Amino acid sequence: MIQVARADPIRDSQDIATLIQICRTEKKTVLNEYTADEEREYITNLPPRDAVFVARVIDGPFAGFASINKRYRHSERLKHCGETGTWIMPAFRRQGIGKVLWEKGIFPWCQKHGFKHLGFSILADNREGIYFYESLGFRVCGYHRKLVYGYEGTFIDAIEMELWLQK
Ligand SMILES: CC(C)(COP(=O)(O)OP(=O)(O)OC[C@H]1O[C@@H](n2cnc3c(N)ncnc32)[C@H](O)[C@@H]1OP(=O)(O)O)[C@@H](O)C(=O)NCCC(=O)NCCS
Repeated sequence: MIQVARADPIRDSQDIATLIQICRTEKKTVLNEYTADEEREYITNLPPRDAVFVARVIDGPFAGFASINKRYRHSERLKHCGETGTWIMPAFRRQGIGKVLWEKGIFPWCQKHGFKHLGFSILADNREGIYFYESLGFRVCGYHRKLVYGYEGTFIDAIEMELWLQK
């Protein structure tokens, strides 16, 4: 049984930092590497409309996390726009946990905090990520050529995805 809750800086920071490192190794994320202390600091100081949700087996291991952030901080006219991400431990993938993080965490949070448009860029070769977001209702709405620096001196294409949340 999976439980979804707001991230706790003490309990969850090491697990989140470890999962980010796993996804970096898999080349599935553009996130930087963070120490547990840096992650703790980040979660502790999240702006009021930003949130990180964690999925855990009840009384058991960490399974993954999802985040929602205000996407454009410079404009009141874009304050309904959010940016999101989802990361699941390899052993827990394809068991509906990403979906549960959204149903119990991200979607209710968006409704409560006035996020109506969600969007983000995802690496173009991340098929599982694209299928996952399409299963939530997102659509591919753009293509960025060579958006992401690929560490080996190359630049990687990315896909832009979006979802308009109906009331
Ligand atoms: C993408 C990711 C978050 C999906 O999480 P998940 O918990 O495995 O996804 P779910 O089990 O909730 O899947 C929900 C639906 O998404 C789609 N989906 C998820 N993984 C898929 C895959 N590997 N292939 C095809 N469709 C997939 C399916 O429609 C699935 O429904 P179904 O199992 O009933 O067919 C997970 O694979 C992951 O953490 N990947 C590495 C990090 C990453 O790429 N994150 C996305 C960019 S932020």
